[in-house]
Amino acid sequence: MPLEIVRNDITLMKVDAIVNAANETLLGGGGVDGAIHRAAGPRLLMECKRLNGCKTGEAKLTKGYDLFAKYVIHTVGPVWEGGGYGEEELLRSCYRNSLSIAKNKKCASLAFPLISSGVYGYPKDKALRVAVDEISSFLLDNEMKVYLVIFDRASFTIGEKLYSSISRYIDDRYADAHSDSLEERQRRSLITRAPKASSHYSAPMEECSAGAAPCYARCDLEDRLSELDESFSQMLLRKIDEKGMTDAQCYKKANIDRKLFSKIRSDVHYRPKKSTAIAFAIALELSLEETEDMLKKAGYALSHSNRFDIIIEYFITSGNYNIYEINEALFAFDQVLLGV
Ligand code: APR
Repeated sequence: MPLEIVRNDITLMKVDAIVNAANETLLGGGGVDGAIHRAAGPRLLMECKRLNGCKTGEAKLTKGYDLFAKYVIHTVGPVWEGGGYGEEELLRSCYRNSLSIAKNKKCASLAFPLISSGVYGYPKDKALRVAVDEISSFLLDNEMKVYLVIFDRASFTIGEKLYSSISRYIDDRYADAHSDSLEERQRRSLITRAPKASSHYSAPMEECSAGAAPCYARCDLEDRLSELDESFSQMLLRKIDEKGMTDAQCYKKANIDRKLFSKIRSDVHYRPKKSTAIAFAIALELSLEETEDMLKKAGYALSHSNRFDIIIEYFITSGNYNIYEINEALFAFDQVLLGV
């Protein structure tokens, strides 16, 4: 998963570089700035003093000193003044400039806080949108593992409208799935009590050879195995071709890294995790029916008995295949994210 949203303290992230939401003096402050300076130790401030500050929207590199991270990229986000003073463009350039410095230093991994969403007052859902947009655009053309580190639940909000619309969608379906009527429960219990009709073994045929297992078992099983359905990875590759996509376009859109895709591509019987299988269905913009068909080939199904599946169904039926928006929503509802 090239872009992952995680709950953590950014100073604990074991990545090549972490980004600091600094101020123009670069001489430290509160929030994440204060936390990074405390964790990195006094040598960080000494190096910052030699940088002569940093303009809003720009970014500068220092060592990480006592941090796990080798580098700190200090960037200065805009103070929110209502949105009419170029704040969004300045915030976007914080992400772009930090990503470009990390790329130039050949960082394989990078962690961002939600820049400007604290003391600088940038509305959190707007700050999140900018962060995800800029990072995901960068990842379309670059290989890097990028984390968006959310320090506390309060600093993470997706749009209120989207959040309540998903909540309603879940409530309508989750409740149904968990409050079967009495007759529904009775009908289901009848099914589970009925003896399983043996669908594998018909009446024994003649012995294939003295002492061998009765032929009906082996022959029937061999017939069935020879009629194996298309596998998950066969369907995935077929769908990529049908959609006229390249492999790279598909796995990038699925927020899946190249290594995992190559594994799937080279193993016709590869069985992905459910979140990976769904990530590909989203990247291919499959209908709900096609998604369920693809999931079935990996041994999974969508059900109304869990919120993760209902949220996925919500986005597919709304025709929203933006995997980053889906992951933001999954994160907001404390669910597993899509990708590896
Ligand atoms: N790890 C990850 N994220 C953190 C941490 C942490 N240890 N501490 C705070 N955050 C989050 C906040 O919850 C917020 O979502 O970082 C985000 C940015 O908040 P601030 O740190 O307040 O940064 P910002 O809003 O950009 O304001 C910058 O604050 O600390 C001063 O010197 C800094 O003047 C500058 C201003």
